Amino acid sequence: MNAIHGADTATVTRMEDLRQSTRSAHQSVDDMVMEMAPFDNRDNYMRFLTLQYVFHARMKPLYDAEDLNRVIPGLVARSRYKAVCDDLADLECARPEIGSRFEISAQDAERIGWLYVCEGSSLGAAFLLKAAANIGLGDAFGARHLAGHPDGRGKHWREFVEQVNDLELSDDKEIAVRNGAVAAFAYFRNLMGNLPLQ
Ligand code: HEM
Repeated sequence: MNAIHGADTATVTRMEDLRQSTRSAHQSVDDMVMEMAPFDNRDNYMRFLTLQYVFHARMKPLYDAEDLNRVIPGLVARSRYKAVCDDLADLECARPEIGSRFEISAQDAERIGWLYVCEGSSLGAAFLLKAAANIGLGDAFGARHLAGHPDGRGKHWREFVEQVNDLELSDDKEIAVRNGAVAAFAYFRNLMGNLPLQ
């Protein structure tokens, strides 16, 4: 397993480094999502689902990228874009138009940082899925994209962690991965600050 050597003598894995580098960014999106009270009523949920739609639609090309699938086998199947589309269909909502200003311009290794954020969000989704039951939604209707993987949410995540930790990356690329993760959280925060998103 690859490891990053920090300023002190402690050694942390790439994924642990990403977690530590984005801890406050995560807390801030977590707080903002909770402020939206997405599970108080269906209108609020639709605002949250619109966010999720834009994020997962814009992330889709990263999941589909051939070069990334070569080094992270099975990546393409991890995308939750289709599940978000199915949630919109369940709720009889059209897919939102996405303004061009919400394009993701991540390059090369930065994309791994973006994928870290998107994949990691499936962990917090366990809590959100429970709350979705308040408004009659769940993993079979309206909140499919929050469901865990059939193999188990934790197992599916740990496989990704291992795949990313095992990548051989130069120091420059290592920094690019971290920058990508920071940018992905900023992107999500920006989406929340810009609803509606046309
Ligand atoms: C109210 C909303 C959210 C809550 C309550 C929440 C909660 C959590 C929790 C409890 C974990 C850790 C789970 C575990 O270790 O088993 C987690 C992990 C994570 N979440 Fe969230 N989350 C929320 C929203 C988001 C969003 C919107 C994103 C991204 C856009 C995100 C990205 C991540 C990432 C990247 C991790 C993995 C951290 C790691 O490296 O271990 N979360 N979240």
